[in-house]
Amino acid sequence: MNLDSFPRPDCSDLIVRKGTNCEKWDRLDQVYGRDDLLPMWVADMDLPVPPEVVKAIKLRAGHPAYGYTFRPDSYYQAFIDWALRRHGWQINFEWLSDAPGVIPALALCINALTDPGDQILIQTPVYGPFYHVVSSNNRKLATSPLLEDRGYYRMNYDDLAAKFAKGVKMLILCNPHNPVGRVWTLDELRHLGELCLAYDVKIVADEIWADLVFPPFKYHPMAAAGHELARQTITLMAPSKTFNIAGLHNSVAVIPNKEWKRSYDQATKRAYLGFANVFSVTAFTAAYCHGGEWLDQLLPYLKSNCDQVVAALDGYCSLRVRPPEGTYLVWLDFRGLELDQDLLIRMLVEHGKIGLSDGRFFGREGDGFMRMNVGCPRSMVMDGISRIKKSIACLSGETESEYEV
Ligand SMILES: Cc1ncc(COP(=O)(O)O)c(C=O)c1O
Repeated sequence: MNLDSFPRPDCSDLIVRKGTNCEKWDRLDQVYGRDDLLPMWVADMDLPVPPEVVKAIKLRAGHPAYGYTFRPDSYYQAFIDWALRRHGWQINFEWLSDAPGVIPALALCINALTDPGDQILIQTPVYGPFYHVVSSNNRKLATSPLLEDRGYYRMNYDDLAAKFAKGVKMLILCNPHNPVGRVWTLDELRHLGELCLAYDVKIVADEIWADLVFPPFKYHPMAAAGHELARQTITLMAPSKTFNIAGLHNSVAVIPNKEWKRSYDQATKRAYLGFANVFSVTAFTAAYCHGGEWLDQLLPYLKSNCDQVVAALDGYCSLRVRPPEGTYLVWLDFRGLELDQDLLIRMLVEHGKIGLSDGRFFGREGDGFMRMNVGCPRSMVMDGISRIKKSIACLSGETESEYEV
């Protein structure tokens, strides 16, 4: 791969995304009340997609017919080969179903495999739409808060067993976990899987972050974590986070359980979601076929962005930050500042001019936290760190210049 097409570690060039209907850059005003902020919130990257993807889309765009399009065998094969190559996971062709995104796929799973009023459990804090997709589909939300010890999060198996015993029908797992950055180990997944099997809880594993894991940590598919788990698990994956193509809306559902797959596919049909987006099919296939080398270069870059934040902010004015094991999201613990969360956000927005994700978006356990997206050039990460320090300095009345990084 040509390194010139990739932002080098010292790259200060930022892709200009303002004015492109970009959620992260063009909706600042709506979310934070002003548009002059450094946006480090929405989970996509301010980095260019793999050049192979751009090339494939340009080639396809050159053919001037953009009519109804289906997903060909080569599309599925690209994903199957990727899962085997990168994760050692052998997926069968007949297990694969579609959705325009992982959250839409979650909604389809809920409708296909549970009934209104059923309890669905999530492990909190967790990606905000997990809450909404359960409640807006008229299911009852059950939560099992993760156990936290100085920024390190673990599953609470006793609590899970107690909640499962009360009739939970489905678990939505986040593996790796947004926002706490854990990449669940095989032992953790097995333990969780045993509980789900014991209480007959269906598992929907959102594994959208699977490819963005920093060695020595390793992603393990929940469905392959134990003998019986394939038939008990639907896995949702997508190239959107990995290759920064979330705007193309495409994902896969891996459903080895034949009966569940039939129900899922019927739900897809009922919603008339059968066709695919022309460019999305092209990008998906190109990314999974040719994006491996690009990803190999991206991962250390993201890891070192995370490390910069930890080095600069962990211990700074009682902030606590742990390096994430995967993703490009850093979970910042501001609780030591003992600030009201609204005041904390105001301080970051008005003094630091930075837009981070409010920890409460991930549930009540996120109070006192902010999530920082470091999927961007290093210069932007350093700017973000500087703005956070400036915000805190303003609060304590210090001079801004002392806090330059
Ligand atoms: C855990 C998780 N699942 C799903 C999504 C969104 O997936 P999609 O855009 O495919 O619906 C995100 C986006 O940040 C996420 O973090």
